[in-house]
Amino acid sequence: MKGVILAGGLGTRLRPLTLVTNKHLLPVFDRPMIYYPIECLLNAGIQEILIVTGGEHAGDFLKLLKNGQDLGVKRLAYAYQEGEGGIADALRLARDFADGEKICVVLGDNIIEGNIRKAAGDFFTQRSGAKILLKTVDDPERFGVVRFEGDGASARVAEIIEKPKSPPSNHAVTGIYFYDASVFDMCDGLEPSARGELEITDVNNYYLKRGDLTYDVLEGWWTDAGTFESLHRAANLVREGGANHLQLPAARTEPVGAKS
Ligand code: DAU
Repeated sequence: MKGVILAGGLGTRLRPLTLVTNKHLLPVFDRPMIYYPIECLLNAGIQEILIVTGGEHAGDFLKLLKNGQDLGVKRLAYAYQEGEGGIADALRLARDFADGEKICVVLGDNIIEGNIRKAAGDFFTQRSGAKILLKTVDDPERFGVVRFEGDGASARVAEIIEKPKSPPSNHAVTGIYFYDASVFDMCDGLEPSARGELEITDVNNYYLKRGDLTYDVLEGWWTDAGTFESLHRAANLVREGGANHLQLPAARTEPVGAKS
């Protein structure tokens, strides 16, 4: 399975910070935001990664990450998204990279404490379709939210609603998704939403209607980092420990080349 990190968009909610750099290069405690989704994929054993980015500062990803080898990435590829057409628009650019294989998609501003290795393994053996990871949150209106039908063990996902004013549950859809190769045709068939974007929630609802969507509940904490509040919270969560960090060279405390 290959990994795709979506790090496009203009990061307007973090202006003025994002006027001079890409949102995903901003620091989250001791490292740039983009390191976390890379770690998430590497921790799941996924070593071939495509980063989709855009905007004026896209070249800085290359300066920071180079060919990915310092971070333990076997193959690092880049794609450039024109404009800010939405998450599903950015995902379309991964078609050639995926080359018919299943993919794990991680939003570039999502950070997790734990490990998605089990979910990745389960999806690998899932015959077809998609898998989403859910997490209970206090502010579901900021996310895609699941409406369940039925209770207890017989509960099933009936619908996913993007940023509902009256959330039907507090189960948010995290920005970690597993898809089979049919995702690209789905993305191509989408119409822009009221906010002018191709919505990943529409993709997930397609799979759901097809009866081909599974879900897991993510263990450990999860946060996005796309607003001032969540960026601050993300830094605190990482600082307080528990982030499942790889020992990446650029995160060493001593300057590179310093004598010990
Ligand atoms: O964090 C999880 C949430 O992410 C989900 O619960 C929502 O269903 C999903 O729509 C998304 O909501 P956000 O409003 O937080 O998405 P945002 O526009 O902030 O984009 C999240 C990341 O997706 C961003 O860090 C980079 C990537 N992206 C976004 C857009 C709009 C792109 O690569 N290209 C884009 O055009």
